[in-house]
Amino acid sequence: MTQATNLLKVVVIGGEGIGPEVTDQSVRVLNWFIDRRHAPLQLHDAPYGAEAYREFGQILPAQTMEAVRNADAILFGATGGPDLDVLPKPVRHQGSLLRIREGLTLFANLRPIIAHAALFASAPLKAEVLEGVDFVIVRELVGAIYFGQPRGIETLPDGQRRGVNTQVYTTSEIRRVVRVAFELARTRKHRLCSVDKANVMESGVLWREEVDKLHQAEFSDVDLSHMYVDNCAMQIVRKPNQSDVIVTDNLFGDILSDCAAMAAGSLGMLPSAAIVPRDAAGRSKALYEPVHGSAPDIAGKNIANPLASIQSVAMMLRMTLGRPEDADLLERAVRHTLEAGHRTADIAGRGDTPISTFAMGDAVLASLDQIAA
Ligand code: IPM
Ligand code: MG
Repeated sequence: MTQATNLLKVVVIGGEGIGPEVTDQSVRVLNWFIDRRHAPLQLHDAPYGAEAYREFGQILPAQTMEAVRNADAILFGATGGPDLDVLPKPVRHQGSLLRIREGLTLFANLRPIIAHAALFASAPLKAEVLEGVDFVIVRELVGAIYFGQPRGIETLPDGQRRGVNTQVYTTSEIRRVVRVAFELARTRKHRLCSVDKANVMESGVLWREEVDKLHQAEFSDVDLSHMYVDNCAMQIVRKPNQSDVIVTDNLFGDILSDCAAMAAGSLGMLPSAAIVPRDAAGRSKALYEPVHGSAPDIAGKNIANPLASIQSVAMMLRMTLGRPEDADLLERAVRHTLEAGHRTADIAGRGDTPISTFAMGDAVLASLDQIAA
């Protein structure tokens, strides 16, 4: 019998909105890899969200945080939406996806963007700019305006209200994420574009200086460029195939990745991995989640696209499990599924009949069977 300790622990949190239904398809895929390829994994469900609040009084109950801390990887669905919005503010603050990211110091968020040729016809951008689109946004994930203090809403003596958030970075926060991006660039085309707003913001000036220093000191073999974030947003839709690795701050990365989704055809196509580099003992920790949110308007209808979540599983196979062949196999299966014409509503073109979330899961499993046979 396999020792339980030899298995990597994956905590599965479906979360809110379309999170559970897309995550279900990823769990089916993970089980395929456990059954058919002996992937050394143990899956554990953990409560999160409005349902967890009703049962345990917290969105992120202590046992979920504990499970997450002991996990090798977390597969997360989505958070946010009307069920959470009605809960008291302290409850929402105490427990959330942001607390998991922060609590585990998952500071580097990799968001790969690939344009599949099979989707060119239905994509919102012209096919001619989609040729060869394959880039990664490395988003800083645990700093800056998402977490900076002071923050809050206060009432001023004259009765007005004032909302405050703080954009703040330290040199070490900048350097650790930029290092991940430089290292990633070395495994690709040796090109890195750092994105900031240094023409207006001091935190951006510091960001740029630290990027330059690290470049000179350790990564002069990488071709480095800088871009302002407003220009970057435009370039990503104007000519998405000119990018390779982009590194940027937390808020800019959030916005640019939604923008970049248009190059992949739909927000339903973008996977992500939030990571910390391996420690001295070789242990890693990562949270895998689709870039899309909870999409409350289509939740529970079995029409959401599970491919962002399923491709996040491919990232897990590659990064947490160190099984590149399995990751390639799953990515090939996704491509095969698209080439065979299977489309959820978000990626359906004229003349396509959209299929359900579950049917897309079926189609990927069938592609896996076919390719692996
Ligand atoms: C994302 C999401 C999250 C973020 C939300 C759900 C808090 O938009 O991962 O891109 O802003 O980071
Ligand atoms: Mg976002």
